[in-house]
Order: sequence, then C-alpha cells, then structure tokens
Amino acid sequence: MKHLLTLEQLSKEEILEILNLADQLKFQRKNNIEHHLLKGKTLGMIFQKSSTRTRVSFEVGMYELGGEALFLSSRDLQIGRGEPVEDTARVLSRYLDGIMIRTYKQSEVEALAKYGSVPIINALTDYCHPCQVLADLMTIREFKGAFEGLKATFIGDGNNMANSIIVGCLKLGMKVSIASPKGYEICDHIKEFTKQYPGMFEMTTDPMIAAKDADVIFTDVWASMGEESEADVRRKAFEGIYQVNDKLMAVANKDCMIQHCLPAHRGEEITAEVFEAHAEEIFEEAENRLHAQKAVMVMLMKD
Ligand code: CP
Ligand code: NVA
Repeated sequence: MKHLLTLEQLSKEEILEILNLADQLKFQRKNNIEHHLLKGKTLGMIFQKSSTRTRVSFEVGMYELGGEALFLSSRDLQIGRGEPVEDTARVLSRYLDGIMIRTYKQSEVEALAKYGSVPIINALTDYCHPCQVLADLMTIREFKGAFEGLKATFIGDGNNMANSIIVGCLKLGMKVSIASPKGYEICDHIKEFTKQYPGMFEMTTDPMIAAKDADVIFTDVWASMGEESEADVRRKAFEGIYQVNDKLMAVANKDCMIQHCLPAHRGEEITAEVFEAHAEEIFEEAENRLHAQKAVMVMLMKD
C-alpha cells in the first residue's frame, strides 16, 4: 500500500491488516504503552472543507505517534489562489513525510499522488471517505465480533459515505443494501463495482426493504459539504421517508447497531431518540477514527 486514495484500491487482506494494527494501537493507548512509531515524521493536512473529527484525530494521532502534523487551510495556501495541485504536490513532498487532503474532486487527490513523492491520504472527497469507513469497520468488528454473515444497510443520499460503505462492507464479506430516493442514487462506478459480488448487494428506493434484518444501519446527512445550496430541494426528496427512526429499526435485527459518521442532523436523517439510544456505538465510531488513521499513517509512513 503506497497511498490511501479509495477503498477499492485496497485488498481485503490490507483492510484487515489496518484494522488489526488499529486494534493494537487502541490497546496501547488505553494502557499507556508508548508507541512512537513515527518519531520525527511530519504530516501535512490540506483542508478545503470544514472538519472536526478528521482534523483533530489526525493531529492528535500524529502527536501520539511521536511526529508532527501541520494544519494547512486552503484559504491560506497558494492552492486557494489557483496554484496547481501538481506543483503543490512536488513542493510539499520535499518538506513532508505524508500528506492528508480533504477536498471536492477525487481527481485532485489522484493528482497529488501522481505528482508527489510521499504517501497521500484521502480524508474525504465528494466521491469517497475511506478513513471514515475504516473506523466504521473497526467499530463493527468490536461490537459484532466478525463481518461474514452480517447485513449492512445505508439509508439516504448515494454520496461519498455510501460509496465507501458499499466497497468496504462488500470486501469484508457483508451483505449490503442501500435505499436512496430517485435521482440521488450511487454513481455508475460503484454500481459497476458491486457486480463483483453477486447476490450480496441490493439497491432500492424503499428504506423498509433495505433495513429488513439489518445488523448495522448507516445513515448520513441529506446535503453534504458543498451541496448547501441544494438543501431545500434535497429536503423535499428525503423528508419523511429516508430517516432512521423507530419504525425502521423495528424491521431490523433486534441487536442492530447504528453508525453515523457525524455531524448528525437530528430530526432529518435520524431521530433524536434513535441517535441517543445508539450513542455508544456512534461515539465509539468517532473515537475509532483516531486509531484507524494512526494505523494507516504507520503503514504508509513508517521507515
Ligand atoms: N466524520 C467526519 O469526517 O467528521 P468531520 O467532518 O468533523 O471531520
Ligand atoms: N457526506 C458528508 C460526510 C461528512 C463527514 C459530507 O461530505 O459532508
């Protein structure tokens, strides 16, 4: 593994290797066992969108690994004034040991990897959110013990989260069902990917069908970062149907868990009641961003 650009590019074995290392790093942190595996290394973190979890977990993660992290807002970088990503990649590669980027276009992340000479980590694009789904998979294994035989359901927009959830869960042997409104389905590229897993993937417009016998239900906001101007139109398409609520949970398995990448909009994609009833899993998921990303950084940046 040279970069983390998408989950499609990782094998099942590589994903499991990340999750195993993440579990080990979580154990070491909880037991105050020093784990300065990236002593003297520096990570640059380019942000073209807002962040709470990603920024803090990468920064703290790097610190705990004995290295440093630099927060690089696109408002301050010359990239924000039009300097090409190809040049930024070649310059930053001469100072840094790794680059994490959160941006809009997946092609920008791919360009960084092509022109740079250090490992690149995708910390969310409009297309995917691999770091989040590694943390989600880690959380599912913590709560359920294994992946094979489980059914994962995604309710909502066919967005970056849906894409990475589908890829990650199918690769690890889970069945996946997704319910999205017409016009907000996953892209053709991911539809094509699912064909490698016959009988394991289902797409519907009916959340009740998707949630039937689910072991894990995922949801995400109706309007993602960069889609703020579409919020009203999207609300009309999703409202009253694409929500994780008690009625939906009633058709899932009794011990069904919930994963939400956060931030959550209570009363929209999930009710406040269901969110609070599953807060334990959701906030463990948020914590696991730290451990999973530390594992990714160690695998990519350790000498
Ligand atoms: N889930 C997630 O990526 O959160 P932030 O946008 O706060 O980083
Ligand atoms: N789909 C959301 C995920 C946020 C972590 C967004 O892109 O805004």
